[in-house]
Amino acid sequence: MSNHIFINEKINNFKKKIKVASDKSISIRSILLASQAVGTSKLSNLLESEDVLNTLKAIKKLGINYKKKNGVYFIEGFGLNNFSIKKKITINAGNSGTLARLLLGLLVKSKFRIRLIGDKSLSKRDFSRVIKPLRLFGVNIQSKKNFLPIEILGTNYLRPISYNEKIGSAQVKSCIIFCALNTPGITLINAKKSRNHTEQLLRSLNYPLKVNKTNNIDKISISGLSQFKSFKYIIPGDISSAAFFIVLTILSKKSKMIIENVNINKTRIGVIKILNKMGSAIRLINKKIYKGENIADIFIKSSGKLRGFNCPSYLNSSAIDEFLLIFLVAAKAKGVSTFKNLGELNKKESPRLDLALKFLKIMGIKVKRKKDNIKIFGNPKLEITKNIHVEKYLKDHRVFMMACIAALSFGGNWKISDRDSINTSFPFFLDILKSLGAKIN
Ligand code: S3P
Repeated sequence: MSNHIFINEKINNFKKKIKVASDKSISIRSILLASQAVGTSKLSNLLESEDVLNTLKAIKKLGINYKKKNGVYFIEGFGLNNFSIKKKITINAGNSGTLARLLLGLLVKSKFRIRLIGDKSLSKRDFSRVIKPLRLFGVNIQSKKNFLPIEILGTNYLRPISYNEKIGSAQVKSCIIFCALNTPGITLINAKKSRNHTEQLLRSLNYPLKVNKTNNIDKISISGLSQFKSFKYIIPGDISSAAFFIVLTILSKKSKMIIENVNINKTRIGVIKILNKMGSAIRLINKKIYKGENIADIFIKSSGKLRGFNCPSYLNSSAIDEFLLIFLVAAKAKGVSTFKNLGELNKKESPRLDLALKFLKIMGIKVKRKKDNIKIFGNPKLEITKNIHVEKYLKDHRVFMMACIAALSFGGNWKISDRDSINTSFPFFLDILKSLGAKIN
């Protein structure tokens, strides 16, 4: 099978109920925490994508057994810091920043050196954001200029820290929380708001972790070395995967969609808040709470009248993986949209901010950029007729999927390379598009 696709036709007029990929953040966290629990945890509806399968491979290499039976993953933990390795090993985190950064927090007592490597994209990402706090705990970490490969050697002399997490990165916050689990005493984190699945999961396990919420900062305190029992978890759908279909429906004519059973944690729904401010009518129905997480079905319909929006930067972290899609809606909106402080987007699987702006320009949209602040001049009449080739984007899954949504919403003749990029987070993405009537060759 060739590794590129062609899309030459828009889609409209679909009405469909779908389920999207399971939540990647919760899938990875639940596996890692199951590896630290006492007993056999049972994870259902786990995302079976490369990032998550690499997480399973990683715990296996660290001596944790798991098996899959009737769709459920059974993971056998022996409690905190009970990985069993007898020599230096190498763990490959593939494309996953979340796996690499969170796992480091669990390797902090390893008696043997562990070498962490990743693919081309992950090897271009800066790890100083986790190396710095881990060193304060007393962990021995070596790397060349803060990039992979990293070598970590644990210590029995971990000391609790008090840390200001200023980026608003859930990966950094979670790495510190994981290290705190293995550290005697109380670790304090003043964390700029970001997704809080790690905290929710630990609280659902009655772990002694307290969160004091203020406007912009969560003050988190974790009491280390408390064992927790194995657990059951049914992973809900991922809002970051749902967002592709939310935006496709908004931009297509005469269409409606329900996306069932999606995690709508407050720290994740910036995309819904922003798009509704731009004139869409996304509604959350059948709401429920599961282990502290909010879950709902998402109802969306085509939106004829979209308007520009000045996006306040406090929403950035809750929509961090969805900006590429929000930009497509801004491209179609009447008026100018502004976004501030989006530098973090360039630190993802690819330099996403640079790439997205390049594609918007190729699509015929006027864009202005001052440092990390951008202005998108929308055009409600946008129709693309030219040939566009999307390539050399470090196989960033979200860039591939954004390009598909742009092609199906605005027309033009698109060739999009590296279809296997979707295996990272959403292996059946193209199948859903086809079920809506999209012609993809
Ligand atoms: C994630 C956190 C975000 C996000 C990533 C997944 C997580 O990264 O972009 O896709 O599961 O913790 P940062 O924490 O670096 O912003």
